[in-house]
Amino acid sequence: MQPFEGQIAAVTGAGSGIGAATARKLSRLGARVVLLDIDGESANRVAADCDRAIVRKLDITDAAAVSAAFREIADEAGGLHMLVNNAGGGAGAKLLDLNEAHWRRLVALNLDGAFHCLSAAAPLIAAQEKGGAIVNVASLAARHVSPLGGAGYSAAKAGVVALSRQAAFELAGSRVRVNTVLPGPVRTALTEGSVRLDIQFPLGRWVEAEDVAEAICFLLGPGAAMCTGAELVVDGGVSLRL
Ligand SMILES: NC(=O)c1ccc[n+]([C@@H]2O[C@H](COP(=O)([O-])OP(=O)(O)OC[C@H]3O[C@@H](n4cnc5c(N)ncnc54)[C@H](O)[C@@H]3O)[C@@H](O)[C@H]2O)c1
Repeated sequence: MQPFEGQIAAVTGAGSGIGAATARKLSRLGARVVLLDIDGESANRVAADCDRAIVRKLDITDAAAVSAAFREIADEAGGLHMLVNNAGGGAGAKLLDLNEAHWRRLVALNLDGAFHCLSAAAPLIAAQEKGGAIVNVASLAARHVSPLGGAGYSAAKAGVVALSRQAAFELAGSRVRVNTVLPGPVRTALTEGSVRLDIQFPLGRWVEAEDVAEAICFLLGPGAAMCTGAELVVDGGVSLRL
């Protein structure tokens, strides 16, 4: 029997990169996957690789839409066991180039969006007899100056790390585990053209979306049954030099 057989997993930003790789892997491991993305067409393409997938076009910055979508998903799928809070991104800008509107957009997407999905999903997961698990996707930029960074993105991702830690503590009693992955540079649409290609990875190659998906699925799965509030760096060793 597959580890996620009979379980429902929602993945935000599932149309591309880390979210797409995670949705495909969760499906291979037996979960029924709910793909959420502002780009519905991309999510539909990924859903074609997943068994009995559900797709919802969703902007995670819209609190009311997120709340309604999670209620509908739980009704349609018959509950929710896991959330991968992954949608995010945005180009970095230097502090003195960052205007109010750009700051608001970065915080809305990377921190408010994570909060909206976490708070909509947590009660549904807590309602399961055996609870479930949430993985929030932050970034190495939460800890270190990063080529993807910039003050707004880094500050928002540091907020995600703090939000995860607090949520892990508050939800432990409901048997909802909350963990965080902190990817370094990963080869996805987000980094294409925006990140130096000559980064030296101590482990000898670029980190791929599938590498991050592996770490996410470990934290969601039975092997991490006693992990909550953990912060797992997936960076091919890049931060060892920082
Ligand atoms: N790629 C990297 O190097 C890297 C490094 C550290 C952290 N991360 C984080 O990993 C996560 C995934 O990044 P990726 O590299 O796979 O990016 P990506 O650009 O390949 O995919 C992001 C997906 O999120 C969707 N999305 C964007 N805005 C949305 C919104 N408002 N509502 C719903 N969906 C939305 C996009 O349509 C896209 O499908 C992000 O949170 C990113 O910050 C990525």
